[in-house]
This record gives sequence, C-alpha cells and structure tokens, in this order.
Amino acid sequence: ERQKHIRNFSIVAHIDHGKSTLADRILEMTDTVSKREMTNQILDDMELERERGITIKLNAVALTYHADDGEDYIFHLIDTPGHVDFSYEVSRSLAACEGAILVVDATQGVEAQTLANVYLALDNDLEILPVINKIDLPSADAAGTKAQIEEEIGLDTDEAVDISAKSGLGVKDVLEKIVQDIPAPTGDLDAPLKALIFDSKYDDYRGVVLSVRVTEGVVKRGDRIKFINSGAEYEVAEVGINSPKPIAQDYLMAGDVGYITASIKDIKDARVGDTITIANNPAPEAIHGYRQMQPMVYAGLYPTDNAKFNDLREALEKLQLNDAALTFEPESSQALGFGFRCGFLGMLHMDVIQERLEREFNLELITTAPSVTYHVYQHDGEMLNVENPAEMPDVTMIKSIEEPFVKASIMVPNDYVGAVMELCQRKRGQFDTMEYLSDTRVNVMYHIPLAEIIYDFFDRLKSSTRGYASLDYEIDDYRPSDLVKIDILLNGDRVDALSFISHRSFAEQRGREIATTLKGIIPRQNFEIPIQAAIGSKIIARTNIKAYRKDVTARIHTGDPDRRAKLLDKQKRGKKRMKAVGKVEVPQAAFMAVLQTD
Ligand code: GTP
Repeated sequence: ERQKHIRNFSIVAHIDHGKSTLADRILEMTDTVSKREMTNQILDDMELERERGITIKLNAVALTYHADDGEDYIFHLIDTPGHVDFSYEVSRSLAACEGAILVVDATQGVEAQTLANVYLALDNDLEILPVINKIDLPSADAAGTKAQIEEEIGLDTDEAVDISAKSGLGVKDVLEKIVQDIPAPTGDLDAPLKALIFDSKYDDYRGVVLSVRVTEGVVKRGDRIKFINSGAEYEVAEVGINSPKPIAQDYLMAGDVGYITASIKDIKDARVGDTITIANNPAPEAIHGYRQMQPMVYAGLYPTDNAKFNDLREALEKLQLNDAALTFEPESSQALGFGFRCGFLGMLHMDVIQERLEREFNLELITTAPSVTYHVYQHDGEMLNVENPAEMPDVTMIKSIEEPFVKASIMVPNDYVGAVMELCQRKRGQFDTMEYLSDTRVNVMYHIPLAEIIYDFFDRLKSSTRGYASLDYEIDDYRPSDLVKIDILLNGDRVDALSFISHRSFAEQRGREIATTLKGIIPRQNFEIPIQAAIGSKIIARTNIKAYRKDVTARIHTGDPDRRAKLLDKQKRGKKRMKAVGKVEVPQAAFMAVLQTD
C-alpha cells in the first residue's frame, strides 16, 4: 500500500540544460527546503561543484508532494552526474528509479548527452517524461525542440511540459506528471533483501554512508548484511532517508530509496553498483550490471616542496575515502622527486581531485601530463600495463603495443560533417557509422584513441563546428597501434617527467612542436639551454633557449626597499611552481606542454 505512494525518479539532461535548476524548484515547491534555506542548487553540495556548476557526486532526497488527487506522495529525487567521466554512476542511479525527467533546453535542442542519457534510461526500462526548459528565453523554440525529440529520439512529445525551471513556470505540471505517469515501485517485501548501492560517501562519524534503492525485502537496524560482489559483511547501525537532512527510519522496504550506515571504514568494501543482502538469508543473485570502476587516465602528482610528500599521501587517503574510483601509488621521478601516480576516471575527475588537493589541503603540486594505460607485449611473452610513459620498456624489448579506444558519438548539423570527419581522421579515428537523425542533423560514430580525446579533442571539435557539435563517448576496447616513446632532454639530461607516447607517424612533428613550446615556457637563465626530443638514442628535434643578455636582477637591488621587497616576494611566489631539473628551473606549464599541439 505504501509503495503506491512512492515515486523514484532522476532528472537527466545535457550539461547546462537546467537539471539542477529544476531540482531546486521541485525542492522549493514541495517545501522540502524553505526559500530562505535555499542556497542555490542544494543537491550539488560540494563547494567545488557549485563553483563549476557541474554535478559530480550523486545524491538522493526524499520529498512529500500533496497532489491534485488529494493524496500525499513520497518522491525520491535521485541526482545524476552530468559528465561522461561518470557515466557508470549515472547508469547505477537510473537503475534505482522507475522514471526519468528528460530536460531539453529549448534554445539548444537535443545534444549528444541528451541522447546518451535517453539510451541509459531505456536500458533501465524507465518511463521518460520529456520537459522543454528555458521557454522564458526569447530564443526558445519549444515546438522545434519537440519535433526534434520526436524525430531524433523517437519519444512521443504530446504530453511534454513546457517549463521555465528558473521562474518555476510549468513545474507544477511536471510534479503532477510524475504522480500520473511514473510507475510506483513494485517488489516483494517477503523476498530476501536486495538493495542496490548507487552512491557511497565517507563520514567521519558514521563511516561509509551508502545510498541505496531497496528492490526486494526489508532492511533494518541490527541486520547482518552482506555485499554480494565484495563479500564483506557488516551489522546495520542505522537506516534512513535524506530530506535533505538524514532522518533515521525503523526500516527500509522494497521500493524505498534511503541510506544505510554500518560502521564501514573502507569504501572499497561497499562500492557503487554492488548489491546488499542479508547474510543468513541471502538473495540468490546480485542486481545485474555491477562493474568495478577502472581509472582511465593517469598522471603523476608531485609536491613542489619535497618535504610535503607525506602531507600529499594523507590528503590522497582522505579523498579516497569518498571516492573509490581514485587510485594512487607512490612513484619517484629523477626530475620531480617523490610523488604519486594517480588514476582517474577522466579529465574532469582529474581536474577536480587536483583542485581539491590544492584548495582543501593547501598543497602546491606539479602535475605531469595525463596518460592512458598501454598494453605492452614483450618478445618474452609478458604483457605490461604501462601507466607512465617513462616506464615504457626499451624498444628492443617490445613486440607490439595496444592502446584504449573510445566509441565517440558526435552529433552535428550536416553542414559540419566534413569538418568532424576530418578532425576524427586526424586524431587517428576509425570510422564506425553515420546516422541521419533528420534532414539536417547527423550522429557520427568513430572509434578514437582515448589518448587523443584527453588531449584537445573536445576544444577542436567545438572550434571546427562553431560550437554546434556535441560529444559523448564510452570506453570501448584495446586496439594495436604503432606507438613510440619520445624523450625530452634539457641541457643534455633526459627529463623523465616529460617523456610521452606518440603515434610513430606524428612523432617527429610532435617532438618539434614540444621543443618549441618548451622554449617559450622555460625562462631564460644565465646560460644557454639546449632542448632536444629523442626516440631512443635518435634525436628528432632540437632547439635552444638563449642565455640572458643582461642581468635583470641588477635592477632589483636599486630603487626603494618597499618595491624591492615586493619584487622579491612576487618572484618567490612565481617560483613556487618551478622545479629545478638539473641546473634548469622548469615551470609547471612545461609538464603540460605535451597537451598543446599545433
Ligand atoms: P550540470 O549540473 O552541469 O549538468 O548543469 P545543469 O543541467 O544542472 O544546468 P543548471 O541547472 O546549472 O543550469 C544551467 C544554466 O541555465 C544556469 O545558468 C541556469 O541559471 C540556467 N537556466 C536553467 N533553467 C533556466 C530557465 O528556465 N530559464 C533560463 N533563462 N535560464 C535557465
């Protein structure tokens, strides 16, 4: 009976189409939070998320809606991250729902992640409610956007609601549609417990807090639970719901969305996607689709001050408590000293971790250029996973190398198809298929090396299509590539942290470009610095940084003491992000030079 009055749903959208704004309005209109409490976008509760305006961590909130039929309904609104780095988390949170609100910006229309999200929702058998947003804007084309949704996605839009998430116009109709069109959860209360973990976070007082959707059975305080995939067992300390503050409940039953705590100290015991059951009356099988998340992008993180190595380790350990996808292992570099090789789900994930380390833990870091994991097959039959270009074995040892590819789906007006294909070819893409979504819009699919995507693919795609293209991608498979390691020598010394992997056909060009870029980045010193790029012992490019012509420091010693102090201070701060490599002072930007091409 209670199940009939529950609705579990997510809001999905392409980035910036207004998902968080709609969530805010819904919370406001159901009095879940008062206007006064309403800081902007309450579901995005991390400071960094709010600043960047992107949703990273999932969250679920319970709210009560008094519907036009006179009854009260419990809505569980499950937030999903909006970025491709986190598509596995999106799919897990959708698996916790019966329905999804699809927000499409009426000034932008259908974009790549609109389509990708619809596919994820359909995979999970969700009822999809299309909502046309931003109709308050003069450039909004609600009718055109609906036509596009019908044509390109094949969803019926007769019932679609036109809204302004910003002003609240139409949002009441959305709430009614949720009651009428999204199915109530089903699930047997007497069956053995099955609960899907769709988010987890670490809390200093309660340990790991699991966000769960119960699909079968009941769970309550004191139950001995078991994680089907990890095998770990714990005793439940508390179950409850977030509304949005945590409120303890007597039990959670099939259909409910809520949290479970069990004094879990290690987030790895309780990963997103795992299924919880009761230890002495277990469900026969896990909820399908569990996948351990694998980092896809690796980079070296080094403290500028070598004495901060242990601080960095502690900070990474803290961040990992809340982020099971982050991995790190100590490594050392001749150039940079002691640091960690860290694994991330993608570039956004990497940026976020890096910023949090600097902001929340006050660390000054040098970050090396990100790299993917290569499969290196040696003549002796061994296969190595190489996450750090500096660790690529000698060419004479290598039989073949494979690199990860993604399947990229690029949605673009047909005028730009030529430009998109040219770019994909240049980035070593292998054509897959092309699908006309309508007379004017095309979905182009390519298999592209992940390494090319993490460099500058997205920026180039935007600039070669005047911003009209949108991109979505998923990790696909490993494919053989003719790759070589390029070393950079400064002042005759190989700098391990600057080594990178390139396709052989671009190697000389990349070597030259990077030598030139480094020449622009590394400050002149009082001696000439040769820069060379080499494959093995063969030099493929060289240039020089000339010595100072005159001694600029001499000027600092004259003039008033105040100005001198300021200058020295400024110089000191600027230097912080420098590393002395041999006799050469190398700024942070140099380690990212590999990412700048052309
Ligand atoms: P991610 O969290 O990055 O996935 O973005 P989002 O989809 O949550 O978008 P968000 O709600 O942050 O909105 C993006 C921008 O559009 C913000 O600047 C909003 O103020 C604006 N916006 C959202 N809804 C409306 C609307 O109905 N009208 C107008 N004019 N602007 C809106």
